[in-house]
Amino acid sequence: MQDSSTYWKKSRVELRAAGFEPDKAANTSAVVTIAAAYTNAHRCNNRVRSIGDLLVELLTERGGQGLIVGAPAVSDALTQGTPTAGYSLVSRDVVADCFEIGHYAHHGDAMIVISGCDKTGAAALMPLARTNAFGLVLYPGTSSPGKVSFEPFASKGTNITIMDYAEGRAAQETGRISADQLLELERNVMPGSGTCGAMFTANTMSTVAESIGMMLPHGASHPADYDAKSDMHADVRAQAKASVEALYRLIEKNIRPRDIMTERAFENAITTVYAMGGSTNMYLHMLAIARQAGVPITIERIQQIGERVPLIANLQPHGPFAMTSLHAIGGVPVVMKELLRNGFLHGDVMTVTGKTLAENLANVPTLEQLPKQDIVFPVGKPIAPANNHISVLKGNLAPESCVLKLSGKTLDKGEFRGTARVFDSEADTMKAIRAGEIKPGTVIVVRNVGPVGGPGMPEMVMLTIQLQGRGLGEDVALITDGRFSGVSHGILIGHISPEAARGGPIAAVRDGDTIVIDPKARTLNVALSEDEIARRMKDWRAPDLSARVRPGSVHDKYVKLVSSAHYGCVV
Ligand code: FES
Repeated sequence: MQDSSTYWKKSRVELRAAGFEPDKAANTSAVVTIAAAYTNAHRCNNRVRSIGDLLVELLTERGGQGLIVGAPAVSDALTQGTPTAGYSLVSRDVVADCFEIGHYAHHGDAMIVISGCDKTGAAALMPLARTNAFGLVLYPGTSSPGKVSFEPFASKGTNITIMDYAEGRAAQETGRISADQLLELERNVMPGSGTCGAMFTANTMSTVAESIGMMLPHGASHPADYDAKSDMHADVRAQAKASVEALYRLIEKNIRPRDIMTERAFENAITTVYAMGGSTNMYLHMLAIARQAGVPITIERIQQIGERVPLIANLQPHGPFAMTSLHAIGGVPVVMKELLRNGFLHGDVMTVTGKTLAENLANVPTLEQLPKQDIVFPVGKPIAPANNHISVLKGNLAPESCVLKLSGKTLDKGEFRGTARVFDSEADTMKAIRAGEIKPGTVIVVRNVGPVGGPGMPEMVMLTIQLQGRGLGEDVALITDGRFSGVSHGILIGHISPEAARGGPIAAVRDGDTIVIDPKARTLNVALSEDEIARRMKDWRAPDLSARVRPGSVHDKYVKLVSSAHYGCVV
């Protein structure tokens, strides 16, 4: 059987016109798709082009040819809370499709995917699993943190991230910090490029790529650069070089993504993300990646794997540290070593190094061997015991499921019982919070913002930041059929399925209803009888989306195809 690239190598007239040398191209050792969702629009993916160019150079030195394939890169920070937030989750599947199309259309033999902002991170593994082309993921890097001179931020040292800026903005609105202090935060929070700098969704997905075995060790946590005017960070450059070498090893050894992304590897990744306090978005993305890899992971299985894992990485949003602080002490391998030693990981799974996970971790120092640090805790003395991070709940408000994020906190009374304030949009909810209408003891219900209702299941992060910034994070719960950013923390339930726009019972809730969140029983209920819910739902009509979904648009296709969050919003 000929390599896919044979077709490319034989296209002499096309190659010549595109600036390649046909004779040289004929001898190319491997044609490698460089899957690069580049944009100069935002800090998360603005280094992707130079990393792609570097990969082309490195592959050329190795006798190969890199062919760059582009895709849109949606920044959550630029879209959250705006009318275009519904393009974010949708872009995950579009990006994966772009990479698949480019890879096959250009006759690639192998693929290096450069990830980045949340959805490009999630989409990175999907085309690799889908095409099963030799390949791996390279991370452009996370944002270096900053520091400021005033409390409550100064005591965090050089660990100030975009989360602090966002909460600082809400704090300034309520007079808790001054305008000058907010400006100091703005100027110092992110000295350069990179994804949101702690255990938010982008770093959750880079952690997934590394811990599932599809990224080289220590690759999920490096800073993107030194400052906005500098070149890429030396660690990114080193990872790019090592990734090219690793790719050739994978080809030689005939190790493909589905040899690595096995069910046991998914279990490792889920375990690691739980130990590090990752984002709820992980649920959606793991389900989507597993589907591409043909691995039968369900939402209940993710819960089962996660519920036995203690929280051991002291990173934002639940702790004080930034991702680069973890990088400085050895990165994700330090966490994985502690988990492996304590029987939480499968050490025998293959990885892109061509070695097993246990072999990769053999020389990683244990926590006892590291200099004293407060970033990774021992499994025996965790930040929070197992079952206090993300849980999958069900109940009469979420017959399929929903996800509760506690990030290591426990509810004082064991449950949260509150009075519903119902909103059908994020904007209306924001108005009410800003007007001071939300009092302790409220359960804010934001509905019709699911995969169909949004459309595109926007993140309610601006609302959770407002609650935190106003000091309401522990007294007000927020439940939604939308989703959250990794930045979000508090008493939060998202992904309520079925969603309101598809007739889920969240559509029946009214102001004043009592809502009970019980993390131990893993239930989310409204204190109404089944008959009363059915009676209210009798008059329910699907919302009219015509004002927001133009015929033939991406969202028009999406709302027809998308599954519920319970199944990962796959299309
Ligand atoms: Fe891109 Fe957060 S906005 S990683």
